[in-house]
Amino acid sequence: MAYQAAENRYQEMKYNRCGKSGLRLSALSLGLWHNFGSKDSAAASTATVHRAFDLGITHFDLANNYGPPPGSAEERFGKILRGMGRYRDEMIVSTKAGYYMWKGPYGDLGSRKYLLSSLDQSLSRMKIPYVDIFYHHRPDPDTPLEETMGALATAVRQGKALYAGISNYKPEEAGRAIRILRDLGTPCVIHQPSYSMYNRWIEDGLLDVLGNEGVGCIVFSPLAQGMLTDRYFKGIPAGSRATKSQFLTKDKVDEARLDKSRKLNELALARGQTLAQLALAWVLRDSRVTTALIGASSPRQVEENVGALKRADFPAEDLARIEAILKG
Ligand SMILES: NC(=O)c1ccc[n+]([C@@H]2O[C@H](COP(=O)([O-])OP(=O)(O)OC[C@H]3O[C@@H](n4cnc5c(N)ncnc54)[C@H](OP(=O)(O)O)[C@@H]3O)[C@@H](O)[C@H]2O)c1
Repeated sequence: MAYQAAENRYQEMKYNRCGKSGLRLSALSLGLWHNFGSKDSAAASTATVHRAFDLGITHFDLANNYGPPPGSAEERFGKILRGMGRYRDEMIVSTKAGYYMWKGPYGDLGSRKYLLSSLDQSLSRMKIPYVDIFYHHRPDPDTPLEETMGALATAVRQGKALYAGISNYKPEEAGRAIRILRDLGTPCVIHQPSYSMYNRWIEDGLLDVLGNEGVGCIVFSPLAQGMLTDRYFKGIPAGSRATKSQFLTKDKVDEARLDKSRKLNELALARGQTLAQLALAWVLRDSRVTTALIGASSPRQVEENVGALKRADFPAEDLARIEAILKG
C-alpha cells in the first residue's frame, strides 16, 4: 500500500533555525549510518523512516560510504524515498564525501575530483536530482581548503546541493572553511560534529565558532551509539550494534561506562523520562545545537527518542547531578 504520512506530523516536533540561515531543522534528525544497508531488513528500515517522518522528523542524513556495503544505504534510502515522493519538498536529505569510497587516488579525502564525482554517484544511487545538504565528511590536511570548499560551492551552483556543510572539522579549521565558503557566496549552513554526555569536545571552542559565525550544528552519536540508553544494561543483546559494528566493539561496552549510564538512568527516571530521552534533551540544552542526529534500528526507538522533547528543561540541580556522575 502506498505510504500516507500522518496528518498530525507537525504537531509535537520542534523546528530550530540552522544558525542564521533560513533553513529550519527538526530538533531530532535520523541518520542512516547503521541499520539501512543492503543486509539489513528492508521492512524495518522503511518502517523506521516512515515512523520518523510521521513524528515530524524532516531531516535524513546519509553519506556515500554508509551501508554496508558502502553506498547501499543511499540505494535503500532512494527506494524508500520513491515511495514518499510526494513529500520530498517536506524533507531535508543530506549526503557526504570525505572517507574512503573507491580505489585509486580519487576516491578518498578532499580533492575537487573526489567530491564532485562522489556527489554524482550519490545522486544516481538515490535516483534524485539534488540533495539538500552536501558535506565534506572530514578535514583533509593535504588538500588546500580553498579547493575542497570550492568543490562544495560548485555543487551548490550546479544545483546538485542546496546547501554546503562540513563535518568533523576542529574549531580553527572550521572557522577558515566557513570564511572561505562565505567569500564564495555559498555559505556553510551547518557543521556536523560528534557530541554526547560522554564526548564533549565541541564545548571547547567549536560551539563558540559556530555561534559567532551563525552556522548551525547537528550533533552525531548523541546516544554514544546506544551506550546512553538502557540497551546494554542486561548484557549485549543479539542484533545490537555492539554485535555487528567495528565502531562499537564489545570491549567498549565496559562496566565503568555502564555504571555511569545506570546512575544517569536513575536521574532520568526521576525526571520522568528514559535515559535515551535524557541524553538527547541534554545535547539540545545549548541553543547553538540545532538538532540531535540519532540512529535507530526500529520505529520504537524513534518513538522513544522523539519523546525527549517532552522534558527538555534542566534545573541547575539536575545539571550538577549529571556533572557529578560524569566526573565520578
Ligand atoms: N559525520 C560523521 O563522521 C558521522 C559519524 C557517525 C555518525 N554520523 C551520523 O550520525 C547518525 C547517528 O549516529 P549513531 O547511530 O551513532 O547515533 P546514536 O543515536 O548515538 O546511536 C544509535 C544507536 O543507539 C541505539 N538506540 C537508539 N535509540 C535507542 C533507544 N531509544 N533505546 C535503546 N537503544 C537505542 C540503537 O542501537 P541498536 O542498533 O543496537 O539498536 C541505534 O542504532 C548516523 O546515522 C550518521 O548519520 C556521522
